Amino acid sequence: MACETSHEHLKVVILAAGKGTRFKSKKPKVLHEILGKPMIFYVSMAAKWTQPEEIIYVIGHKKEQVREAINCDGCKFVEQDEQLGTGHAVSLAKKHFENFDGLVMILNGDTPLIKGETLKNAVKYMEALIRYEGADASNFRGYRNEKVAGVVLTARVPNPYGYGRIIKDGSHIIQKIVEEKDATPEEKQINEINSGIYIFYAPYLAKVLDKLENNNAQGEYYLTDVIQLLREEGKDVYALEIPDYTEILGVNDRWELARAENILKTQFMHFWAVNGTTFHNPDSIWIEFDVDLSPDVEIFQNVMLQGETSIDEGTTIGANSIIKNSKIGKNVQILPNSIIEDSVIEDNAVIGPFARLRNNTVIKEGANIGNFVEVKNSVVGEKTNAKHLTYLGDAEIGKNVNIGAGTITCNYDGYKKYKTVIKDNAFIGSDTMLVAPITIGEGAITGSGSVITKDVPDNALGIERNQMKIIEGYREKMEKKHKNEDKE
Ligand code: UD1
Ligand code: CA
Repeated sequence: MACETSHEHLKVVILAAGKGTRFKSKKPKVLHEILGKPMIFYVSMAAKWTQPEEIIYVIGHKKEQVREAINCDGCKFVEQDEQLGTGHAVSLAKKHFENFDGLVMILNGDTPLIKGETLKNAVKYMEALIRYEGADASNFRGYRNEKVAGVVLTARVPNPYGYGRIIKDGSHIIQKIVEEKDATPEEKQINEINSGIYIFYAPYLAKVLDKLENNNAQGEYYLTDVIQLLREEGKDVYALEIPDYTEILGVNDRWELARAENILKTQFMHFWAVNGTTFHNPDSIWIEFDVDLSPDVEIFQNVMLQGETSIDEGTTIGANSIIKNSKIGKNVQILPNSIIEDSVIEDNAVIGPFARLRNNTVIKEGANIGNFVEVKNSVVGEKTNAKHLTYLGDAEIGKNVNIGAGTITCNYDGYKKYKTVIKDNAFIGSDTMLVAPITIGEGAITGSGSVITKDVPDNALGIERNQMKIIEGYREKMEKKHKNEDKE
């Protein structure tokens, strides 16, 4: 992840130390994937939209794995070995913001649907609250409204269960946040919840963090208790209610993960659809984060596009096809039930139905790879056809070649893999076994059913076949023989 920084009075702290007990997983919660990317990736991406001066991650459970997935050289990492609560996690990051005359935004690592734009607007809102009119845009010194301590992003949700409830005093100012487990029955009725996203004036937050206590239902240091502590200091924290509550859905178990994934998938597909992609039965289609689609692409039901896959203009992807880490050119037809991985398909090629291409395969312009054909680590030249029941592995195949049905490159002797070269305009008869390493020359022909073990020169025929015999009257002979046997 690139780490461009520029907002001079903003730092971000992302909490990602928790185990995620409810995931019942060996993998840390924030590394569970949504459309091919770990959850923490989306939170980081949204954070970067605000262009903070610095991002600080609090990591703990399986911290090395998490640090590696975050993969940010310019970021700071703080280690929380025992997960004593969100307040404890933030207090460990305090050294990075206690002397900072600016804002600190806190994000939960398990809120992956939050949009960068929403965070940017929240920062603007906080700036407007804290800054007196005419203040210098680059810092708050001398112009700051000393009563404003922070903003909490909130939303009204259909089912507030599990979230902290926002208790307000009738205005936008928050009195306190009460966690589900500590809430009275009346407080549980409140449907305005804490998103876990906050923006504080950094020195004020730093000051009250030391006063947090863990005398609550969970025995944890709650970050949410800072609101009351700030209030006791005479400072105000405002609620900023965001209209689309789905942005702040927390992901605490695998069902919530599935739900978040579906929401994001629909958003991506909406984006591609308005940019010119046709989807047939979109609910059944799967498109990951790194996929790139050009206009006039048509995608049928149950298609999965995974990893870094791009599909160029005018291409059709037939039902039940899976394409992963591959580049598909213009006006290609991928017919149903084809599986393509780590490969390149050039313009106007026709693939499938039921084709399997993998491991650095390149299918050149206008080539045709048909039913039950597997191509591995091979280059198939322009306008070459391999239409039926074939295995091509470690092969380099020229232009205008015809590969007959049932052809197999015998590329493996149980120890090593060997290469097959088939030059331009060759004709490989049906059911040819090409025992590699081997070269079939330009314009050469192989007889059907041959086991080819020697190179075939240009324009020659390579055939390996016993003389076929015709035995006249054989039926009569058989009949006689069987009649005699019946008598015995
Ligand atoms: C938290 C909020 C709750 C809010 C909800 C929004 C508190 C006390 N509660 O609850 O008000 O409605 O988020 O989703 O903050 N983490 C650490 N170290 C810890 C504990 C947690 O890094 O010691 C991290 C977790 O990895 C997670 C985030 O903090 O990314 C939130 O922790 P979690 O336990 O999920 O809090 P919630 O119970 O969801
Ligand atoms: Ca949570």
